Amino acid sequence: MDREKVDLTGAPETMLATLYGRALDSRAAKSILHDSAAADAVARIEYDFRKTGVNAATAAGIAMRAKHLDNWTSGFLQENPTATVLHLACGLDTRAHRLAPGDGVRWIDVDYPDVVALRQRLLPTPSGDYRVVASSVTDAAWLEEVPADRPTVVVFEGLTMYLTGQEVQSLVERVVGRFARGELLFDVYGTTGIRLQKLVPAVRNAGATLRWGLDDPHAIERWGVRLVEDLRSLDLPEIADLPAASRIPLRVMAKLPGFRDVGRILRYRFPALSQPEQN
Ligand SMILES: C[S@@+](CC[C@H](N)C(=O)[O-])C[C@H]1O[C@@H](n2cnc3c(N)ncnc32)[C@H](O)[C@@H]1O
Repeated sequence: MDREKVDLTGAPETMLATLYGRALDSRAAKSILHDSAAADAVARIEYDFRKTGVNAATAAGIAMRAKHLDNWTSGFLQENPTATVLHLACGLDTRAHRLAPGDGVRWIDVDYPDVVALRQRLLPTPSGDYRVVASSVTDAAWLEEVPADRPTVVVFEGLTMYLTGQEVQSLVERVVGRFARGELLFDVYGTTGIRLQKLVPAVRNAGATLRWGLDDPHAIERWGVRLVEDLRSLDLPEIADLPAASRIPLRVMAKLPGFRDVGRILRYRFPALSQPEQN
């Protein structure tokens, strides 16, 4: 089999770490995500995946995060079977393949042009109303091409930390301003995670820089969204079912000062019609 030589750096290179995490999880005795397409893609890439530093525990963390975002996305599609899905910073994630949305769904994957080109070489095109857009998500033009005729769920995993706060705010405000209603589903680092970024091998070895962190998920409701779910990455219920070798490091991290809030998975709705929920 001819393998693809991958020569990316910075944030695009980090998609190999999340891909590898899903691949490792798919081979675990009790896989969380069952993403065998990730393992197939890893086998076709010529890259030293040890650079990612991903191990069984971090792979489980990656798979749990993806699973929650999958569940929220499919929940939205059950309620809105003719929705638009914008899957931003898709990397080599097979979310559209995993969820196999119905024919009524318009699905758009977005990432940088070199990532999209690799994606098209490595992954089968999902069936249905699917397309991929090669653009930075911070560029306003691509969004103006997306028809604003349907409820829209915007899902982005492993993206916000690579953007500035201003870029995240502009993105959220552009989405909220364009579509009548929908949801935004994404993960964030806390500011402690941003400060300790050099401890994350995938980020350090790719030469990527983490920028934006969020400690209070209610703080961004002023951008026109309403928080409806807030999960701490280190408190996810699935952690209890992991083998000890993965569970214990995650439990230890959760006890270290400042680490409990190192990452979150967030679900917001717009328009933010009702009063923001109080903590
Ligand atoms: C950690 S990876 C996550 C990839 C994928 N979501 C996953 O979970 O496997 C970060 C991704 O963000 C993408 N990215 C970072 N900044 C971006 C931007 N401004 N526009 C589009 N994609 C961006 C990178 O190219 C890369 O695919």
